[in-house]
Amino acid sequence: MLEITNLKKSFRQPNGEIVEILDVPQYSVANGEQAVLVGASGGGKTTLLHIIAGITVADQGKVIVAGSDISKFSESGRDRVRSMNIGYVFQTFNLLPAFSALENVELGMAFSGSIFSNSKRNPKRAKQLLDQVGLSHRMHSKPSTMSVGEQQRVAVARALANRPKLLLADEPTANVDPANQQQIVDLIQNCCREENIAMVMVTHSVEVSKQFSRVDELNDINHLMQKA
Ligand SMILES: Nc1ncnc2c1ncn2[C@@H]1O[C@H](COP(=O)(O)OP(=O)(O)OP(=O)(O)O)[C@@H](O)[C@H]1O
Ligand SMILES: [Mg+2]
Repeated sequence: MLEITNLKKSFRQPNGEIVEILDVPQYSVANGEQAVLVGASGGGKTTLLHIIAGITVADQGKVIVAGSDISKFSESGRDRVRSMNIGYVFQTFNLLPAFSALENVELGMAFSGSIFSNSKRNPKRAKQLLDQVGLSHRMHSKPSTMSVGEQQRVAVARALANRPKLLLADEPTANVDPANQQQIVDLIQNCCREENIAMVMVTHSVEVSKQFSRVDELNDINHLMQKA
């Protein structure tokens, strides 16, 4: 599902200095496999997920997602690969403020291949996903009227709405209490297992990571960290 080889990424700092963030010789995730990524703040976890999703482009290397090398595509091509294959839980949620929780989840289904299609909306599945994260009573609430943890749960439901082949989740349980954390983990694990969705999840929570059989340290994947 995901095969990364010889990936490198640097960022130019405001003072002009180029700082290397990632040097990943190899990282792969099989179809339906659930992989957790842990590591220190600022280590490059979000950058790696952004590169896998084609939001950020690597300086060099191959990033094969569902058979396509996303690093070789134009921006619109990357958008298409992402919308057809990837569900993304952003560290900052990125919910659409003008729409209700239910509409946000439904919109996760409506985009496919860069084409907005009302026919792909599936209110039953959207309601089911929100129900599974304990938000049946918040279906019609706008994000601005919801707590941060509630918004996070909407973001998880939205990322799963389109039955992606690969779920990328950036600290999806960072802002919720232990009970809701467990609901999110259960939803992600059950949905991924039942629908054969592969997953890469970043987390700082030991409670969360110990529930997954595969946990990688970014330090072990990223050679820059080993040199440091
Ligand atoms: N667009 C950018 N321009 C310049 N530097 C950036 C940019 N994006 C990220 N960085 C730098 O890259 C490094 C890695 O950032 P990243 O967000 O990937 O870390 P992270 O591992 O996700 O951290 P956290 O656990 O705090 O979320 C940081 O030092 C950050 O300042
Ligand atoms: Mg991050």
